Amino acid sequence: METFVKKKIVIASDHAGFNLKESIKEFLKKEENYEIIDVGCYSCESVDYPVYGIEAVKKILKKEADLGILICGTGIGMSILANRFPSIRAALCQEPFSAKMARLHNNANVLVLGGRVIGNGIAIEIVKTFLSTPFEGGRHERRLNLIENLTQKWNL
Ligand code: RB5
Repeated sequence: METFVKKKIVIASDHAGFNLKESIKEFLKKEENYEIIDVGCYSCESVDYPVYGIEAVKKILKKEADLGILICGTGIGMSILANRFPSIRAALCQEPFSAKMARLHNNANVLVLGGRVIGNGIAIEIVKTFLSTPFEGGRHERRLNLIENLTQKWNL
């Protein structure tokens, strides 16, 4: 008999992404496949997004989470932060097609959303697509390996 392992999803936001983070958590709690690790923030009070983004990144780097969801106002700051770390592949998505391709071709392990850019409905569709799409591998794996090798070569 196969043992069912829940996917661990770490989620983080700043104040501008807080409401969307709560909506996504509510949606994910209803899905039995996921365990959610919320690393903040915990209100709409103004905070600095790197402080919370790094906590999510650390969970993935330490393999305490499989995938991450980061939310700030535009999604840009969280993307800049997350993509500084080798083996983090963060994709800022504003519609489901990008979320699908981010998984199929880029094996993205972090979904980034802009809480001031998209509404809750489309955000949930993006999350559903992101979490249910597998990586295609093949030539895309070669390209991702090139990114890792180039990063190492330039000592980043
Ligand atoms: C906060 O005002 C805003 O700058 C932040 O949420 C984010 O959009 C940064 O990229």
